[in-house]
Amino acid sequence: MFDTLDDVLADCRNRLIRAPRDRKSPMHTPVIVTGDVDARVMVLRAFDAADWRLRLHTDTRAPKARVIAADPRVAVLFYDKGAKVQIRARGEGEIVRAGAEVDAAWAASTRFARRCYMGEGPGAASDAPTSGLPPEFEGVEPDEAQLEPARENFALLRIRVMTFDWLYLAHTGHVRAQFARVGEAWQGRWVAP
Ligand SMILES: Cc1cc2nc3c(=O)[nH]c(=O)nc-3n(C[C@H](O)[C@H](O)[C@H](O)COP(=O)(O)O)c2cc1C
Repeated sequence: MFDTLDDVLADCRNRLIRAPRDRKSPMHTPVIVTGDVDARVMVLRAFDAADWRLRLHTDTRAPKARVIAADPRVAVLFYDKGAKVQIRARGEGEIVRAGAEVDAAWAASTRFARRCYMGEGPGAASDAPTSGLPPEFEGVEPDEAQLEPARENFALLRIRVMTFDWLYLAHTGHVRAQFARVGEAWQGRWVAP
C-alpha cells in the first residue's frame, strides 16, 4: 500500500486535494500553528497541488494575522483518524489582503460567512458574552451593500508547504516518512516512527 516514497507522496497530495472539497474530511479543519507558539483550528479552503499551497481565510484584525506578518513560519497539523494518518506540515505563511484571489474568495463566500467580518475583531474584549456582531445582524443575513465595509477585514492566509512529516499507524508496525522541497521536486526519506 505504502511501499514506496512515491506512494506516500501521492497519498498526501490526494488527501490535501480532497480536504478543502469535503467538509466531512477530518483534514478539512487542520490546526494552524504560528511562531508565537499558539495554535487554532481553521478551515482549509483550497489546495494548489502544483505548488503545494494551502489557502485559508482570516480576519485581518486577528492576532495571528499580525504574528504571521512578523514571522512567516507556520505549521499545519492534520489527522485523519479513520485513515490513521497524521501529516505535520511546515511552511511559509502570508496574509493577503488585496488582489483578484481575495476578491474571488470574498465573493464566493456565503453572506452568513461574510457577516463574521462585520463586527468586532477577534479577541476584542467585552463585558458580556458576545458574538461581536452588530446587534442588528444577530441572526439576520446582511445584504451585499451592508457587507461592503466588512471586506477590508477579510484576508487570505496562504501557506506554501516547505516540508512535511507523514505518519501511518498500523498494527504491523507504524511507518513514517519525511519530505522536503528540493528545487521543483520533493525529496523523501523513511524515518523511524
Ligand atoms: C471548526 C472551526 C473552524 C474554524 N475556522 C476558522 C477559519 O477558517 N478562519 C479563522 O480565522 N478562524 C477559524 N476558527 C476560529 C479559530 O480557531 C480562532 O479561534 C480564531 O481564528 C482566533 O484565532 P487567533 O486569536 O489565533 O487569531 C475556527 C474554529 C473552529 C473550531
